Amino acid sequence: MSTDPRDHRLAVVGGGVMGTNIAALALGHGVPVVLVDVSEAVLAEAEQTVALKLRHAQLMGKLPAGRTPAKLVTSVSLADAADATTVIEAVTELPETKAKVLSEVSQIVRPGTLLISNTSCIPIDEMASSVARPEELVGVHFMNPAYMIVMVEVIRGPRSSDATLTAVTDLLETLGRKGLVVNDAPGFVINQVLHPLINSAAKLVQDGVATVEVVDGLLEGCLGHATGPLRTADLIGLDNLVDSLNVLFERTGDSSCRPCDYLLDLVRAGKFGRKTGEGFYDYGKVAS
Ligand SMILES: NC(=O)c1ccc[n+]([C@@H]2O[C@H](COP(=O)([O-])OP(=O)(O)OC[C@H]3O[C@@H](n4cnc5c(N)ncnc54)[C@H](O)[C@@H]3O)[C@@H](O)[C@H]2O)c1
Repeated sequence: MSTDPRDHRLAVVGGGVMGTNIAALALGHGVPVVLVDVSEAVLAEAEQTVALKLRHAQLMGKLPAGRTPAKLVTSVSLADAADATTVIEAVTELPETKAKVLSEVSQIVRPGTLLISNTSCIPIDEMASSVARPEELVGVHFMNPAYMIVMVEVIRGPRSSDATLTAVTDLLETLGRKGLVVNDAPGFVINQVLHPLINSAAKLVQDGVATVEVVDGLLEGCLGHATGPLRTADLIGLDNLVDSLNVLFERTGDSSCRPCDYLLDLVRAGKFGRKTGEGFYDYGKVAS
């Protein structure tokens, strides 16, 4: 690979919070994107969200100056990923869904195509068992919003090859991201720390120790957490957080990863955070 955006063609599978983040990041750096999701309706909304995020990134000065944004194409067919130089999987955090998508896409693309999972918690080697060429799979945990936060967590699975690590380094440089490489484990580094923290913060509210605002206020004011764990959870999406905690709990047995009742109640009530307009906080209207 190279670090010239003209040499890259990205396919992003999953047009939700992270798929639209990653698409905006790539387009803004001049890398064309095919965005794949399950329905035309999801893709129509995703297209609008990508445009908003691209505009946000531009206004915040987070894109290379003078570079024309590349073209976005949307599709409900994974076959349209066939010509990509890199595929980034950003579908729902359910192991069976990811295994199916990764298996299918790895059979569609040419050998040598970089295959990335943006999973929050599922070990890379677990998913490598579903793909045609396990050495071509690597984890890249883009942060949310991906076009604002420069640092990413790169997860090298036991079967990820040196060539794959070189290719991912080139892609990240092309996208203006800096990666730190970690070994494979459930939740890797970031979410083995962050997700139990959020769950504990929610449980403190559940137990009546403090309000949502006070828990976040203390973590912000005393520990320097940028937004507070519960506001962060609303940004992530509480549905995704529960799926991720389940993945962690099932693979580690660590009870701090078992989603607390308060979190489960919010998800059962359809309060997923910013994406539905209400979670720990009420945003009044659906925020993008
Ligand atoms: N939300 C975050 O802050 C965050 C941060 C880093 C990583 N992640 C990870 O990124 C991934 C995506 O998370 P998200 O928050 O964007 O979730 P999301 O629920 O917002 O979006 C998931 C998208 O995947 C689509 N999808 C489901 N099955 C599909 C299939 N078979 N083919 C194509 N598309 C399919 C859904 O329609 C949906 O649009 C997850 O693995 C998550 O853990 C999330």
